[in-house]
Amino acid sequence: MKKIAIIGASGATGFELLKLALKEHIDPQQLLLIASEKSIGKTLYCDGHTFELQPISSIHDNHLEVIFLAAGSSVSKFVKAHYKDISALVIDLASTFRQEIDTPLIIPEINGDDVDLKKHRWICSPNCVTTLTLLVLAPLFKINAPKKVLLSTYQAASGAGYKAMEELKNETNAFLKDEKYHHIAFNDPYAFNLFTHNSPFVTDDDTDEEMKIRLESKKILKNEDLKISSTCVRVPTLRAHAISAYVEFSEPMTKDVIYETLANAPGIKQFEDFGRNLFATPQMAACKDEVYYGRIRKDSLDDQGFWFWIVGDQLLKGASLNAWQIYKHLRRHETFHSYAGSTGS
Ligand SMILES: NC(=O)c1ccc[n+]([C@@H]2O[C@H](COP(=O)([O-])OP(=O)(O)OC[C@H]3O[C@@H](n4cnc5c(N)ncnc54)[C@H](OP(=O)(O)O)[C@@H]3O)[C@@H](O)[C@H]2O)c1
Repeated sequence: MKKIAIIGASGATGFELLKLALKEHIDPQQLLLIASEKSIGKTLYCDGHTFELQPISSIHDNHLEVIFLAAGSSVSKFVKAHYKDISALVIDLASTFRQEIDTPLIIPEINGDDVDLKKHRWICSPNCVTTLTLLVLAPLFKINAPKKVLLSTYQAASGAGYKAMEELKNETNAFLKDEKYHHIAFNDPYAFNLFTHNSPFVTDDDTDEEMKIRLESKKILKNEDLKISSTCVRVPTLRAHAISAYVEFSEPMTKDVIYETLANAPGIKQFEDFGRNLFATPQMAACKDEVYYGRIRKDSLDDQGFWFWIVGDQLLKGASLNAWQIYKHLRRHETFHSYAGSTGS
């Protein structure tokens, strides 16, 4: 029996992948769950099943159909270095290889058909903000190209992994008890606070997160000239990111056309109640597959400018769910079984 490996199964994203696999009735025996050295032999509990965490070396001893890489860039680099010995299809959630020319960067609803299984065996899943934002905006860009896109993000703790979630909870508890707290995950205090994105600066102006959104959006939309900028901010929510998006279209646009187009787009759901001033929140979007949009309004200064409010669970559609959908999408191809799990390239 060919197995499904999840590297990073004890982490925030990997554990969601495990839950998705079980929800889809994958035989637990078919799952190979891998974590770092310190967790080897520990037990992971999920939906009534128990699993023993395995070392990364076990990917060589098993017949694998697919490997999900959810353990960060250094682990993805390690697997890539040894990839010639592995025959499985790889779906990589880390950012290291997303810009490689021959490596597809996939959101199935937008560019799922960019994968050619004859030559692509290593597929990347994009940055979480990129996925959530494009899922809503890409259908509109098909009918009216964007002149400019400006994003402000409100990103949850879980975007930085399970340790950051723990830090937010512990620091909030300490704050409420007026106790001192030594924060580790971020440079700034997190409880009842917010700060610009914690990723390092890669230019004088942009953090790595802001640069990823720009480069990955261009690659996914196949639009090198796309003008997209963002200011990314970490806020003290546990799960699900929110994005305020401003889009200036190249041609005149109407709200009716926007609503009509988005109503037919996959993976997204309108949520807005102007009368009661209710729009999607991270708490509402947490643990949901759909990405919510709403508060669509014409800019008061520019006739071709529109504002959008987008909220989605970045551990699901922003990461694990997108990766799982890539796997399901490719598995439907007739050629899948000839390549996944066959001799490596
Ligand atoms: N969090 C998100 O919203 C999000 C969104 C998009 C993409 N991603 C990507 O998904 C990946 C995982 O992120 P995360 O937020 O889920 O991180 P996380 O919660 O910190 O989990 C990291 C996982 O990787 C494992 N790991 C660390 N070093 C390892 C090693 N040397 N060998 C094997 N396993 C190792 C950890 O095992 P231990 O439990 O033993 O430490 C843990 O299971 C990253 O590449 C990230 O960029 C995350």
